[in-house]
Amino acid sequence: MIDLQGKRALVTGAASGIGRATAALFAELGAQVLLADVDSERGEQAAKDVGGVFVRCDVSRRADCEEAVHTAVSQFGGVDVLFNNAGIIRRSTVCEITDDDWDLVMAVNVRAIMVLSGLVVPLMAANGGGVIVNTGSGWGVKGGARAISYCASKGAVVNMTRAMAIDHGPDNIRVVCVCPGDTNTGMLAEEARQLGESADAFYADAADRPLGRIGTPQDIARTVAFLASDAAAFVSGAVVTVDGAGTA
Ligand code: NAI
Repeated sequence: MIDLQGKRALVTGAASGIGRATAALFAELGAQVLLADVDSERGEQAAKDVGGVFVRCDVSRRADCEEAVHTAVSQFGGVDVLFNNAGIIRRSTVCEITDDDWDLVMAVNVRAIMVLSGLVVPLMAANGGGVIVNTGSGWGVKGGARAISYCASKGAVVNMTRAMAIDHGPDNIRVVCVCPGDTNTGMLAEEARQLGESADAFYADAADRPLGRIGTPQDIARTVAFLASDAAAFVSGAVVTVDGAGTA
């Protein structure tokens, strides 16, 4: 039922975790995939593994975003699906965070979505439509402990999604947000590191979750693939939580 044949997809944060799993599934479902990431080594490998094309792109830099979109146009002829997924976290309260960390989290998690979507929307509109999927977070809806910039940024992603869906619906562009709960990727290990905890302790309570586990990148990828496909033709402005009934 889910088919991405003929679709041209640009995935950010595609070198690892949710982005990599989604790029792989997009390719499996027939899409041409451009994998964009700041990490060239892992990004090149991921592109090789999934049969896509890699472009180095620091999404916090407008010039890199322009280059990524240019690459999609020159390699594939356009973009039908944009997965704005690259993200970072800083585990700090409002009393602990530095201005620089705040600005970096906002640049990667929020401004990049504005920049990339702003570049891609006119292409999609000229081509009769498209789909933008943004990665939010459960913490973008309900907040979370010691992650003030992250929670603020993901709250912005959630509401940008709704606003973009309203603005660009008339051009047949759907905009949706997927909000993962705790998902087994490098980000969780990085959070454990920032909090001075062992990653094992971080995962220890997974069995107490409602479904007895935390998410896998593939759990999120399958939802993104559905949202990106024509099977979700009337889903726009939606904020879709994928968290196994609450894992925050
Ligand atoms: P990850 O750390 O495995 O992947 C993030 C990717 O983004 C990495 O490949 C990294 O190199 C890339 N990246 C970081 N900064 C970048 C930049 N400036 N430009 C381009 N690429 C950059 O983590 P994960 O979990 O796959 O994260 C993907 C998205 O999922 C993020 O937006 C994250 O906030 C979100 N998320 C993750 C959750 C989790 O529990 N893992 C929960 C909720 C949301």
